[in-house]
Amino acid sequence: MSYPFQIRSLEEYSSAYRRSIDDPEEFWTEIASFFLWKSPPQKVLNWNFKDPMVNWFDGGVLNITENCIDRHLADKADQPAIIWEPNDPTEKSRTITYQELHEEVCTMATVFRNHGIKKGDRVCIYMGMVPELAFAVLACARIGAIHSVIFGGFSAQSIADRIQDAGATAVITCDGAYRGAKDIPLKSLVDEAVEDCKTIKKVFTLIRTKVPVSMIKNRDYFLEQEMLEVKRSGTINYEAEPMQAEDPLFILYTSGSTGKPKGVVHSCAGYMIYTTYTFVNVFQYLPGDIHFCTADIGWVTGHSYIVYAPLCAGATSLMFEGIPTWPDAGRFWDIVDKYQVNILYTAPTAIRSLMQLGLGPLENKDLSSLKVLGTVGEPINEEAWHWYDKNIGKEKCPIVDTWWQTETGGILISNLAGITPSKPSYATLPMPGVQPVLVDDQGKLIEENNVNGNLCIRFPWPSILRTTYGDHERCRLNYFSAYPDLYFTGDGAFRDENGFYRITGRVDDVLNISGHRIGTAEVENAINMHAGVVESAVVGYPHDIKGQGIYAFVVYNEEHSINEDATKANIAATVAKVIGPIAKPDKIQLVNGLPKTRSGKIMRRILRKIAEGELHHIGDTTTLLDPGIVEEIKKNKI
Ligand code: PRX
Repeated sequence: MSYPFQIRSLEEYSSAYRRSIDDPEEFWTEIASFFLWKSPPQKVLNWNFKDPMVNWFDGGVLNITENCIDRHLADKADQPAIIWEPNDPTEKSRTITYQELHEEVCTMATVFRNHGIKKGDRVCIYMGMVPELAFAVLACARIGAIHSVIFGGFSAQSIADRIQDAGATAVITCDGAYRGAKDIPLKSLVDEAVEDCKTIKKVFTLIRTKVPVSMIKNRDYFLEQEMLEVKRSGTINYEAEPMQAEDPLFILYTSGSTGKPKGVVHSCAGYMIYTTYTFVNVFQYLPGDIHFCTADIGWVTGHSYIVYAPLCAGATSLMFEGIPTWPDAGRFWDIVDKYQVNILYTAPTAIRSLMQLGLGPLENKDLSSLKVLGTVGEPINEEAWHWYDKNIGKEKCPIVDTWWQTETGGILISNLAGITPSKPSYATLPMPGVQPVLVDDQGKLIEENNVNGNLCIRFPWPSILRTTYGDHERCRLNYFSAYPDLYFTGDGAFRDENGFYRITGRVDDVLNISGHRIGTAEVENAINMHAGVVESAVVGYPHDIKGQGIYAFVVYNEEHSINEDATKANIAATVAKVIGPIAKPDKIQLVNGLPKTRSGKIMRRILRKIAEGELHHIGDTTTLLDPGIVEEIKKNKI
């Protein structure tokens, strides 16, 4: 049986889209009526993009976890809510039913309440991909605490920056996390981070890898032990905090074109409604399907399409602790086979890396349960699209190419599986409620098709970001000031003759490495912290697997140099220490100077061309302070 708001034909899509544009308030009011409210909304939408101010479903009171859990207890109590596959395939997997999820989340929420955590407090979560990570997210939402999940690939310094920016009072972590053959010592990184964070009062640690951890009296608690005590004493508090529609639900930090990551803030009701609506429609989820999203909950994809939307839809969400290539490159296919997965949602970088390893890992794997394939995070090249279609989908599974961002909360442009047409490397058409436009660099609206432009959105959808934590002006400047009355995505796009959108990539100084956003300024700041570095410039270059790689040009003070290879390795180690291993440059070229204009501006355009290997198309260099430097950089290109 389908959902009441599920679009089941192309005609239904066209009509839903038309209604969503003609009368957005009525359109979303109807969808909102399928959710569980403590009090219904009074005013559907209040907005302007100048401040910006966006309020959806004002007056409505709800708790998202009652929508994710409680309301399924009547008819789905024994259905798996989460299936968890461990990193090591020989370890036992876990299945958590909706009933069990209710118990675990309320128990954890009680622990947090007992420790004084309350509505509006910020809680930082730094865990591996274990079920307790999903419980922790939901337990925070249960009590109205604002969670800020940090991906396990970030350094102690990055954790500290995020804790300080949000003024978090508690951290939830694990002793360690398994990722393929590696153990990551999460708790010791948290210990290092909180040394500089005076706001942190409590640290809860879940035992996973059994590495020794230091435990400071009156600050550190073992999470499992705390939960056991609550269960034993029969004091689980099942109450769900009443939340206003616009109360913040979570903060998620993401890179921008300036040096410091921004805390994107999402609010309760709009986020819940939009992510669930898109989950059901894009993937054409039907009750009973097994949905496998391979993202990490440390990124927005995991927040929206592993935790919140699938659970709101009463789905079964498969959560995988490990990586696609360990213990061998057949791991995803083993999982699809083992659980008879119906929907597989992954990133182009994973597809490309598996594609390179050939068809061997697919032998004897039963993929016949698959109905829908999805991609997210970066443009998918046609070769990878066809490989995915032919070898994984066996040419019978629609592929949804879903374009969206941390700031958008949910999918904005995508085909609907088997309902609207797909086109390789095109995200295609907007979701109902989404009004994309292309503008030229002067901000002029481009009306015609078969054109490139800067991708903007001209009307709010329910899960648009509300602010950047603690700095609303930054939100305005970043997203709402480039073009008046438009939300600017930072992406470029091409629109074809049918109005289908193909995302061409970022038009700002943000890189997309394996589907993860990294600001060039952030990497440069980290490199510049390395002893002996005078200055640096970071650009992206095409990378076969990662989509983009990081190329750093570094001016280094010779006196510090022992030997070139050691210097480069040390610079990379500094970046890993400052930001995290995910931001390590793929290539570092030591140079005597950077190409600059007479006013001192670094000409990144030239460096980008060099990094891309376009040595004969550098363009005009006569305006440079020292054109000779370009020849030298070209000669020593890696
Ligand atoms: O450049 C776009 C790219 O990823 C950026 C958003 O990154 P992030 O906030 O980390 O969220 C990633 C997961 C939603 C976008 O600005 N991007 C995302 N999806 C696609 C994409 N580029 C092309 N095609 C996509 N399907």
